[in-house]
Amino acid sequence: MEKTFQIKNLTYSQEDVRKISIHDLKIGKICGGYIVHFFSTRPNPVIFVHAGDPITKETIERLAKKKLQTLNICESFDRAKRDKLVTLLKKLKTLRFEEERAFHSQEIIKEILEGCFYETNGNLLDMILSFHEVFYAFPDDMTESFFKVSTEDYVRNTEVAFFASFLSLVMGYYDFEFIQDIYNLAFLLDVSLQQNLSFHLHQAIELEREASSKGRDHLFSVSPNELSRFKKHPKMSYEFAKSLGNIFNSKLLHENILNQHEWGDGTGFNGKEQRDFFDWEIILSFADLFIGQRVAYFHKGDASNKYGLRLRDLRLKTGSRKIYFSRFLDRLQKYYDYYKEEDKDEITA
Ligand SMILES: [Fe+2]
Repeated sequence: MEKTFQIKNLTYSQEDVRKISIHDLKIGKICGGYIVHFFSTRPNPVIFVHAGDPITKETIERLAKKKLQTLNICESFDRAKRDKLVTLLKKLKTLRFEEERAFHSQEIIKEILEGCFYETNGNLLDMILSFHEVFYAFPDDMTESFFKVSTEDYVRNTEVAFFASFLSLVMGYYDFEFIQDIYNLAFLLDVSLQQNLSFHLHQAIELEREASSKGRDHLFSVSPNELSRFKKHPKMSYEFAKSLGNIFNSKLLHENILNQHEWGDGTGFNGKEQRDFFDWEIILSFADLFIGQRVAYFHKGDASNKYGLRLRDLRLKTGSRKIYFSRFLDRLQKYYDYYKEEDKDEITA
């Protein structure tokens, strides 16, 4: 019988293990699997690096000290899928005509829907790694500074950024430079909050996602001193984005960060209502609403139906914010149904 072992309560076999060298690890990349070491005396390996953790200078130094010739990695993504998505995303840059880009974007949308909206055993890291590789634009020194704040938040930011880019395609924005700017802006939404993030602030972020004002009310009752920081974070993240110079293809989208917690019903941070928000403002706030704080570990099959369930959840529960997001929810649902059903009708803009 083949020898199996457990990582984070999931069963793996030796077939899942690949050998890599420490030189294969690149600073600034996200680790695609668990880097582990097997001891003959223990049934399960010791984890050196978790799947989804960013590779930092410290990671490399820590592993180098172990003086191991080769490292064992149990990958949590599918190389062929990741490579396919990278190729599809890069191709978007080379297409000259809008009709070509529109047509091509359907293929990308289909891949993502199949990866994480249906029960098809997709891996979240396939999506996160490919979008990160193609669109992430921050230089290494800044990436290191993000890591120092929190590697967990860094990975959550890459998931929000991936989802915002996907939403751009869903809403019919398939210009490569535009998607890249949306990716990097979405990455920055909460970056000003993540330094010294207290337990209460962390809770407030999640509660605000559940219902308007819920996070602010909670903070007011348990840690009122932090309320102003919470309310100001869109402005602070905006100032940070502005200070970044040439990372973005255009500076036109920066201001949209300011409205990341507006929902057009007067219950947002700035109480804005009855205003026509731009789609790209809604892309950012919707992506932030859609993707919760990360606590789970990455593993193969972890994306299966993940976003399909979330979509169903949001259709039922967005309350007064529903009107603001309705066009997005409807369009997403339309794509969801379109690729799920055998009998397909044309999706029109
Ligand atoms: Fe935020």
